Amino acid sequence: MAPKNSPAPNAPYFTPVQSPPVGTAISSNPPILFTPLKIRDVTFQNRIWVAPMCMYSASNGHLTDFHLIHLSAFAYRGSSLTIIEATSVSPNGRITPEDSGLWQDSQIAPIRRVADFVHSQGQKLGIQLAHAGRKASTVAPWLADRGKSVVATKDVNGWPDDVVAPSAIVWGDGYVPPKEMTENDIKDIVDGFRDSAKRAVQAGVDVIEIHAAHGYLLCSFLSPISNRRTDKYGGSFENRIRMLLEVIQAVREAIPIGMPLLVRVSATEWMESQAPESWDVESTIRLAKLLPGLGVDLLDVSSGGNNPAQQIEMHTDFQTGIAGRIRTELFKSGIRDLLIGAVGMITEAEVAKSIVEAGKAVEVDQTIEIIDEQDAVAKADIVLVARQFLREPEWVLRVAHTLGVDVQWPNQYGRAKL
Ligand SMILES: Cc1cc2nc3c(=O)[nH]c(=O)nc-3n(C[C@H](O)[C@H](O)[C@H](O)COP(=O)(O)O)c2cc1C
Repeated sequence: MAPKNSPAPNAPYFTPVQSPPVGTAISSNPPILFTPLKIRDVTFQNRIWVAPMCMYSASNGHLTDFHLIHLSAFAYRGSSLTIIEATSVSPNGRITPEDSGLWQDSQIAPIRRVADFVHSQGQKLGIQLAHAGRKASTVAPWLADRGKSVVATKDVNGWPDDVVAPSAIVWGDGYVPPKEMTENDIKDIVDGFRDSAKRAVQAGVDVIEIHAAHGYLLCSFLSPISNRRTDKYGGSFENRIRMLLEVIQAVREAIPIGMPLLVRVSATEWMESQAPESWDVESTIRLAKLLPGLGVDLLDVSSGGNNPAQQIEMHTDFQTGIAGRIRTELFKSGIRDLLIGAVGMITEAEVAKSIVEAGKAVEVDQTIEIIDEQDAVAKADIVLVARQFLREPEWVLRVAHTLGVDVQWPNQYGRAKL
């Protein structure tokens, strides 16, 4: 009997089964970058994820064929997780009118379509749930004139009268002055995160990330510069992190126990030199220590975006170094069940490899065990990459080739293997 071109299981159409998934190391003793990681019930075949990237191309919050092609391009070329862009939990939480959303049921099906394809290739799909807060109702970046207003006015489907924030403090020149949220508004948005998470599960996503970075709503609650509230959501550290913790609890309760939950933060708002009270790495470490207890599995360490006056100390590991600092602090405190994701300017194979190197933290029965104390020096457990995937959707395959690791290629592309 001739060998059968077998169908991928559970796919809604014929596509050849892809087993093992693309990006799986075939050679023995691969570097950690190409070893699997299991988080709850989900196994990732390597440590390279596609970071969320807004495309400003959705149709009233619905993903389109553009997103299907854009996201699938990374997934079937071997990223072990591809995270859908910031997806708003309410209409006024979009950055631009063309952002992705999950505030209504009709937005489930187009995500399901992406999930079906990604799963048909044996790969995993994540989604980032977000609310843009005081950075909402802007136009797509390629339309925004530097130094001029970026506001999406009503005639281009914006909502300048309904931009909300912890306090009525404008993000910067050219943005909409936001309204201070009432406690009811806060409750509505927390509910929005819960309901959107339920819809994401219905859509078939494997992983949820909560967006608490880059000056968007949850991030702006954390900082005393953007949050001047005098109720239980402002003032002390405990009060400023309250909304984020409520969102985490709501989302964790709404998703299956086996589904990984990630949180992305701006580990510092880069205002230390101007405002000593600002949100800094120490604040993030304090927050991070609370996260495993709330069922968060991984902290995705980004930075900045909460203040136009930020002073970034720019060098290639400006952000991955912070991830390492946080990971080391957690290890020192005996906290080993919060994984760390590093992101930012990772473009080279050797850099990606070294970020997770010496990080022989392995997952055993859902707890992270350290084989060797030395391993605490790894900066992260996962690398997330954004722009390099836009340049090279096949980046995982290129990295493997550069590092001399034999990895599975797509069946259909086998004749082109490097
Ligand atoms: C086009 C574009 C869109 C982005 N959209 C998002 C987003 O939706 N959510 C988010 O948390 N970060 C977003 N980012 C930030 C990236 O996820 C990433 O953190 C950043 O680009 C640094 O990584 P890189 O140097 O690999 O690009 C975006 C970046 C780019 C380039």
